This record gives sequence, C-alpha cells and structure tokens, in this order.
Amino acid sequence: MATILDGKALAAKVKEQVKQEAEGMARKPGLAVIIVGNNPASRVYVNSKRKDCEECGFLSEEYALPEETTQQELITLIQELNGRADIDGILCQLPLPDGIDEEAVLMAISPEKDVDGFHPMNMGALLVGKDGFLPCTPYGIMEILAEYNIDPKGKRCVVIGRSNIVGKPMALLLLQKHGTVTICHSRTQDLGEVCRTADILVAAVGKVNVVTADMVKPGAVVIDVAMNRNEAGKLCGDVDYPAVEKVASAITPVPGGVGPMTRAMLMKNTLLAAQKHQG
Ligand code: GUN
Repeated sequence: MATILDGKALAAKVKEQVKQEAEGMARKPGLAVIIVGNNPASRVYVNSKRKDCEECGFLSEEYALPEETTQQELITLIQELNGRADIDGILCQLPLPDGIDEEAVLMAISPEKDVDGFHPMNMGALLVGKDGFLPCTPYGIMEILAEYNIDPKGKRCVVIGRSNIVGKPMALLLLQKHGTVTICHSRTQDLGEVCRTADILVAAVGKVNVVTADMVKPGAVVIDVAMNRNEAGKLCGDVDYPAVEKVASAITPVPGGVGPMTRAMLMKNTLLAAQKHQG
C-alpha cells in the first residue's frame, strides 16, 4: 500500500502560513484575476481563486470579460493593472477564446506581477536557475515532495507531458534538485519502457489511464497532475489509481493531491510578489 501524498492537507498548511505572513504586512496582497468568455471549467477555477484570496486575507479583484473581448481590450486592461499599486499579482485564466493570441496576452503581464510564472522572463529565469515566479503546479509538486522527504537527487525522474505550464518547468525543477530527468510526450516510443525506469513519475497528459500498473516500477513515487472525468463522470487523473497504488511507494490522489497545491502556490506567489513590491 502506497503512502497517500495529501496535497489537500499540505495546501491548508501553506495557506495558513501565507495568511499569517500577510497579516503582518502594511498593505494586504492584491490579486487580479481575468476571465474571458464562458468556459465552465475556467469559471470553477476562478471561483476557487477568489475563495483562496478570502481565506488568505488578500484583496481580490475579478474581471469577467465577454467572449467577444478583443485582444487589444484585454491587453489594455492588463496594462492598467500593471500600473496599479494595490495589485501585486495578475492572472489571466487560460484557455482564452479563439482569435486571442495567448502568448501576446501573457507577455503583456508585467513579469513582477506574473504570479502564474508564465511570462518568458520567469520561464527563462527558471531555465538558468535565477529567481523568478515558479509556475504553480510544478512548484506545488516540489513542495509535496519536500514535505514527504522525497529527494529527487540522483533519482530517475520521468515527466509525461511537455507543456510550458507543467511538463517543461516540472522537468527543470527536478533537474535543479539533481534528478536525472526524461520528458516523454505523444511521440515517445514505448512509453511503458521509459516509465518503468522512473523512481519519480509525473503524469501530466490529461487522459484517463495513461499510466497503468505495468508501467510503474515497484516502489516508485507517482504524481498525478491531471483532472479528468472517466466514462462514469467521476473525477480522475492520468493514473489507474486502484492498480498503481498497489505498486507505488507513494502516490497523489485525484482529487486532493496536486490540484489544491496549485491553488496554494498561487497564494504563495502573490504573497511573494507583494513582499517584493513593498520592499
Ligand atoms: N488554466 C488552467 N490552469 C491554469 C493556470 O494555472 N493558470 C491560468 N492562468 N490558467 C489556467
């Protein structure tokens, strides 16, 4: 039986620490969240972010823009928020409607307020090992590993997925901690063979049962980033949890694993941004 890596409990701890630090500040940290259009999943995420801000005692502003918002209108709003002294973090919920260039929008957010860590300046800082905002999901996963004394040093780490938001930064953070890192993706040949080499396996694909028990080395640590729904409509990740849990030494559940830590690290990044802005 694997140890269950309880992201929900750790997230509560992180948010409590963030709240306490925020209470001691001259001005409360401020987060602006922008949502464009009517994506139902995005709406759920944005509502959670508002709730997290309330819990941490942050100023929280939401900008819900209609589907037909133009790229220029969105960038103009971001520029206004860049100039606001009471807003420390700006997050533009992805995906954006068709016709809006995500990269151009993310580039418009000031790197000092980019609490998602998606701006190329922050991505570049991570690449070369300089200080910057870390993307919340991989940052949260590193916190889970640290909490459970799982040290990537010298370990074989396999990341499935090469997105800018999760896969690539995840690989860089594991590398920074001296892991031996392999990134797998849709063109990888014999995914199972590569995965079976992993001491730490991170799945970030977004497809049910990508990782089955035969792909997991006995005793491996398995991190499941995805949030899918199976045929029965039940929330599940990329990993065949009931079977893999019998093989792994530790595993994140879905829900209650990586998801809550992603949210907690957004609060942490907003606190860090506010601390920098206040000197
Ligand atoms: N859409 C799905 N996940 C995220 C995230 O972490 N940040 C933003 N901005 N949009 C998302």
